[in-house]
Amino acid sequence: MKILKMKNIKPIKDEGRPKVYIETYGCQMNVNDSEVILSILQDDGYALTEDIGQANVILANTCSIRDNAEQRVWGRIDQFRLRKEQRRDVIIGIVGCMAERLKDKLLDSHIVDIVAGPDSYRKLPEMIRAVTPDSPQMDVLLSREETYADITPVRMDRNGVSAYISIMRGCNNVCSYCIVPYTRGVERSRDPRTILKEAVDLYTCGYREVNLLGQNVDSYLWKDPESADGDVNFAQLLEMVARISPDLRVRFSTSHPKDISDEVIYTMAMYDNICKHIHLPVQSGSNAMLEKMRRKYTREWYLERVRKIRSVMPDCGLTTDIIAGFCGETEQDHKDTLSLMEEAAFDAAFMFQYSERPGTLAARKYPDDVPAEVKTSRLNEIIALQGRLSLESNERDVGKRFRVLVEGVSKKNADELFGRAGNNKVCVFPAGGHKAGDYVDVEVVSCTSATLISRLV
Ligand code: 5AD
Ligand code: SF4
Repeated sequence: MKILKMKNIKPIKDEGRPKVYIETYGCQMNVNDSEVILSILQDDGYALTEDIGQANVILANTCSIRDNAEQRVWGRIDQFRLRKEQRRDVIIGIVGCMAERLKDKLLDSHIVDIVAGPDSYRKLPEMIRAVTPDSPQMDVLLSREETYADITPVRMDRNGVSAYISIMRGCNNVCSYCIVPYTRGVERSRDPRTILKEAVDLYTCGYREVNLLGQNVDSYLWKDPESADGDVNFAQLLEMVARISPDLRVRFSTSHPKDISDEVIYTMAMYDNICKHIHLPVQSGSNAMLEKMRRKYTREWYLERVRKIRSVMPDCGLTTDIIAGFCGETEQDHKDTLSLMEEAAFDAAFMFQYSERPGTLAARKYPDDVPAEVKTSRLNEIIALQGRLSLESNERDVGKRFRVLVEGVSKKNADELFGRAGNNKVCVFPAGGHKAGDYVDVEVVSCTSATLISRLV
């Protein structure tokens, strides 16, 4: 088993090889992109280092989704300045969404040597070779085709149990607040054969869970150039991956409320190894806000989708994203969000204050007029409500039994393990001789708002 696992991470002798250090910000897609970058650089002779002091090349794979994500990276660039003072030949690269958005503005600092957008990673080896102190390198062209389909990501996770697989790139939606379509370009689906091969290889190497990633997985569509019958939609892809082995669990993210189909819901219900969890970002509970956000659904539509999911899969975990304080949001709009949260009874949520992103439709059309302190207090109310809903949801699971895929040793107690139930909730339980990658059956004995405290059964 160990040897197989080694095969997947492309073992190479590190001595004498130039070293690359990669830090990753933002979403799961970025985590997977860093694994693609590492694969490309390993093929060019680089070895990964976790010690920034050893690195010949330092890469930050960045996120632009909110201003604070970018501010963190600017702070890092300042720290990279110190690295350069200590070691003049070290190459600093800013890649990913922030590179795409800010382009040559990143070069003004005179610290950054490489700026590469999300579709330029194949060029990184030649860009690194071409860098001199006077000629930084930039490539921010977006592509209509690039999916990195032929590249086997080099897994940087530590557990060897759960891996991300990107099934598509880019986004064709025009949510008015969102920078992603500008930084990641148009939507492209990846050839399902390459997705299946990657999943089979991971399973053979000991992985027991794959997480299929896309900005909007429900619009996945592979058009076979040779026959229309050969088209593969997301439900079909999900089924193909689920059939690899009953021991390989399948997750996916992110679903769009306007696109999630009954076919996807029924396919999930049909396969025990498709995890019963849907991440379904609602953003707001107010129809006026949803309209302005260009989400293309209403509160009523959203709640109907939730009812459909729950009627087919009563125990399905449901999580969401919420934005507080979008342009023109009134107290009533905010209350509508709170009441929708109660009605949908989300198990968990990612919650944010609206952050205006330059160049988006909202930035051009609507003033960012909710005062900062109002945004903060609304966000705090949303967070507090979700805390209660998460606790109530977990309390409903006390006494239930779940099959959990062990991911590793609990951070709080070395005698305990943790893993996720199908509904995506984290369970902690006594090790009982089990290890990462095992499936165990547990019964929930108590809970917090974040964890199901369980025993082995
Ligand atoms: N401001 C705040 N949150 C945002 N998101 C996307 N764009 C913005 C923005 N401009 C949130 C949405 C999305 C999640 C990934 O990030 O909730 O679903
Ligand atoms: Fe991911 Fe969006 Fe951030 Fe880009 S901007 S890294 S797509 S979350």
